[in-house]
Amino acid sequence: MAYSAKIGPSILSSDLACLGLECVRMMGCGADYLHLDVMDGHFVPNLTFGHPMVESLRKSVGPDPFFDMHMMVSRPEQWVKPMAAAGANQYTFHIESTTNPGNLIKEIRESGMKVGLAIKPGTTVEELAPWANQIDMALVMTVEPGFGGQKFMEDMMPKVSWLRSQFPSLDIEVDGGVGPDTIHKCAEAGANMIVSGSAVIGSDDPRSVISLLRTVVAEAIQKRSLDR
Ligand code: DX5
Ligand code: ZN
Repeated sequence: MAYSAKIGPSILSSDLACLGLECVRMMGCGADYLHLDVMDGHFVPNLTFGHPMVESLRKSVGPDPFFDMHMMVSRPEQWVKPMAAAGANQYTFHIESTTNPGNLIKEIRESGMKVGLAIKPGTTVEELAPWANQIDMALVMTVEPGFGGQKFMEDMMPKVSWLRSQFPSLDIEVDGGVGPDTIHKCAEAGANMIVSGSAVIGSDDPRSVISLLRTVVAEAIQKRSLDR
């Protein structure tokens, strides 16, 4: 089985005045990657940061941490090259934000980044499916994108299960309201890349939370491989 359990804290709910230190702290607590939420106040009703911040973060944390850019922006085409130059590793765009996913996938690859494709809760998984063989990761949103700390939408799990059944080696990420209370549902459905914001960052013991999330997902992966 090609995929493994990976935990990516979303630093949106961290102390934004100390973002570099927060990233280093999360990696030190065992994070496998960092999930960076870019919002443009248009695709979603909130604003965060852009490529200049990513460039600074990359300088601050060094070359190793994997940056998964969650691009909640209306014109994802516009930021591919700047994000690649800033040190992003993966460019995860929303299918709802473009009329030409195929071209965007090509541009992201040509820029040297991995490709993630995200769907909002109202978007069906069938819309993502035609692209699944061309991407590195599918992101199934488990909240409406825009804010951390929202309630997990369990009714998104059939999308994850269906993707796992159709694309057994695809990286499948879930994002929104995921933490110790909801990880079992995600793991059983077949998600292997887990974004967790408030549950990890807001914890007194992020290392334990990250470790717990990874254990639950790894056990589900192992069980699936035995059942096959
Ligand atoms: C929401 C963002 C998420 C968010 C996750 O639009 O995409 O990455 O920060 O935070 P929690 O885990 O608190 O829902
Ligand atoms: Zn996100």
